[in-house]
Amino acid sequence: MPGAIYAEGLVKTFGDVRALDGVDLDVPEGTVLGMLGPNGAGKTTAVRCLTTLLRPDSGRALVAGIDVVDNPNEVRRAIGLSGQFAAIDEYLTGRENLRMVGSLYQLTGREAKARAGELLERFGLADAGDRTAKTYSGGMRRRLDLAAALVVSPPVMFMDEPTTGLDPRNRQALWDVIQELVEGGTTLLLTTQYLEEADHLADDICVVDHGRVIARGTSDELKARTGGERVELVVHERERIADAAEVLTRVGEGGPTVSQHTRKLTVPVSGGARLLAEVIRELDVRKIEIDDIGLRRPTLDDVFISLTGHAAQAAEEENGEGGDGTSDGQRSAAERRAQAMREVD
Ligand SMILES: Nc1ncnc2c1ncn2[C@@H]1O[C@H](COP(=O)(O)OP(=O)(O)OP(=O)(O)O)[C@@H](O)[C@H]1O
Ligand SMILES: [Mg+2]
Repeated sequence: MPGAIYAEGLVKTFGDVRALDGVDLDVPEGTVLGMLGPNGAGKTTAVRCLTTLLRPDSGRALVAGIDVVDNPNEVRRAIGLSGQFAAIDEYLTGRENLRMVGSLYQLTGREAKARAGELLERFGLADAGDRTAKTYSGGMRRRLDLAAALVVSPPVMFMDEPTTGLDPRNRQALWDVIQELVEGGTTLLLTTQYLEEADHLADDICVVDHGRVIARGTSDELKARTGGERVELVVHERERIADAAEVLTRVGEGGPTVSQHTRKLTVPVSGGARLLAEVIRELDVRKIEIDDIGLRRPTLDDVFISLTGHAAQAAEEENGEGGDGTSDGQRSAAERRAQAMREVD
């Protein structure tokens, strides 16, 4: 029997771009699938097809057992969606936005009011609840949009990059809400560009690139394929890069990646902090001066390098399209967020 979210050979093209190139998914009821991929991979397109906002060119998809092409209205009644771009009414207050969603879902006035209050509190919007949404900051909009998706708890939820633009405290609040939802039996598909996020939230992860699922498994399985943690260091003098590489080759699992330009060397390791201490001692013995050294978990890039042999690269860059407003390729913001995420861990 297919899971609560099921897709088979899903294809969607926009002109020459095959945004989805035969995607298969099967998400068991009550579990979370993290869909991981770089800008332009096809994540939003997949979510839009599954939530009936786009009609796939071919293939089949069932959500809560209902065919998305044959019975879109029935599917819409069974799902909740929080999109990559907030869908809130600018001219209503935060509270009014939430109450409106409640009444759309046929809550009584009293229920809608109570739920709105609860969610505003939860997402740190209680003070701003009676201001119009157009006065909200980007992060506040994002939170309001998420709150709106949570007014009722439908059996199947889709969240497209739910934490992009949230600060660490609000991201944690969202993670808690997601945990509760799933404990209550909701099936969730969420998209993200961050391995760590998928790691925290998802039972299973699928990695998407150029409209195809290029790997799937639990986070542990993917990490095992990616080689766990990394030691990363920056050598002070360019002339010593080769010596440092030799040290890393001895302790690493596989050869180090070397960037001459940034004098940065990275190698997958197992052995954590103890191993890091060993590397530092060895560098010291050989009098190799370093500017920076640390242990870090694998990033999306590491996963991509190990799966495809090349770094994650936005499809738009490769297509030479420069984006068309449908895909928010904000690399630097993404990097900052990835950084913030590492800091809370
Ligand atoms: N409406 C559209 N018209 C034309 N091309 C589109 C449209 N929607 C998406 N695309 C293209 O399809 C590809 C997949 O886009 P999609 O938005 O699904 O990527 P994504 O994985 O969500 O990326 P991001 O991480 O940037 O949100 C991209 O090349 C994009 O430019
Ligand atoms: Mg997207």
